[in-house]
Amino acid sequence: MSYYPHLSSTLCNNKRQHCRYNSPIRGLHRCSPGAGAKANTHHVRTNLLPGLKSWTAARRLPQALIIGVKKGGTRALLEFLRLHPDIRALGSEPHFFDRHYSRGLDWYRSMMPKALDGQIVMEKTPRYFVTVDTPARVHAMSQDVKLIVVVRDPVTRAISDYTQIISKTPDIPSFESLAFKNRTTGQIDSLWSPLWIGLYAQHMERWLAWFPRNQIHLVSGERLISDPAGELGKVQDFLGLQRIVTDKHFYFNKTKGFPCLKKPEGSSKPHCLGKTKGRTHVSIDPEVIRKLRDFYKPHNQRFYQLAGQNFGWH
Ligand code: A3P
Repeated sequence: MSYYPHLSSTLCNNKRQHCRYNSPIRGLHRCSPGAGAKANTHHVRTNLLPGLKSWTAARRLPQALIIGVKKGGTRALLEFLRLHPDIRALGSEPHFFDRHYSRGLDWYRSMMPKALDGQIVMEKTPRYFVTVDTPARVHAMSQDVKLIVVVRDPVTRAISDYTQIISKTPDIPSFESLAFKNRTTGQIDSLWSPLWIGLYAQHMERWLAWFPRNQIHLVSGERLISDPAGELGKVQDFLGLQRIVTDKHFYFNKTKGFPCLKKPEGSSKPHCLGKTKGRTHVSIDPEVIRKLRDFYKPHNQRFYQLAGQNFGWH
């Protein structure tokens, strides 16, 4: 059990019975045989008696993915979910389905953290949401995988994206000049990556061609900041987990201006996300912002219809 000291409170006293607490994940496995442990598991120890559950941790393919969106709040969501004892999440972004697909599923599995039977393995790579081949590839791995997308007002998201880009490459042209094909006619360059990523309806349609709507959970990036426990509650429901991450895990840090964790995984000290999360945005001409809002309006409406949810971006 040394891998998971945080799990000890959820384990039965009599370990020989192999009985975990009444974890709701068992329900998830019942619902999701294709994404379950058996087919995808490389057990460390395999000589178990038939019928006995394994106590050894194993690397498995993920049963849940945070697929997007970049600058939506994906790191915050992953860090918050990691507090849950029934979640084992990879900290880095493996980019398997978009960049490293040719390395194969065995490589992908080897990247995953070890997990016990019943724990949900997950990773986040925000680029998955917008890369064309990804839905089919994810589907080929598992048709039962649960997908999570954190969405945020596409205009704010684009500015956040640009703020990140310019912090790494300070010599790039201004946001205003990149956002328009022609500033005089006001023609937007929707293929410019920071704007193109925000065409959520277009990307969502690609995923919906492969996965039913109820297998995709949308998190509001805005509410993840204003009410992290509320959004986390819905994500835990979606994953079939007990609501263990609650408002008692968060506090609002006035200096950071964001919710932070009272006790992150594996530590007893309060913790906020790093400096690259929650940055001051570059300031943008308000007229440009108005034009971008007009541009996104029909796209957002279409997205709300597909989502069955209005995110209130004006
Ligand atoms: P900004 O830096 O533009 O504010 P991602 O992790 O997907 O790259 O998203 C980064 C965004 O997460 C940040 O964008 C920030 O707004 C948002 N975020 C949500 N909750 C946060 C939190 N608790 N702490 C810091 N940033 C958070």
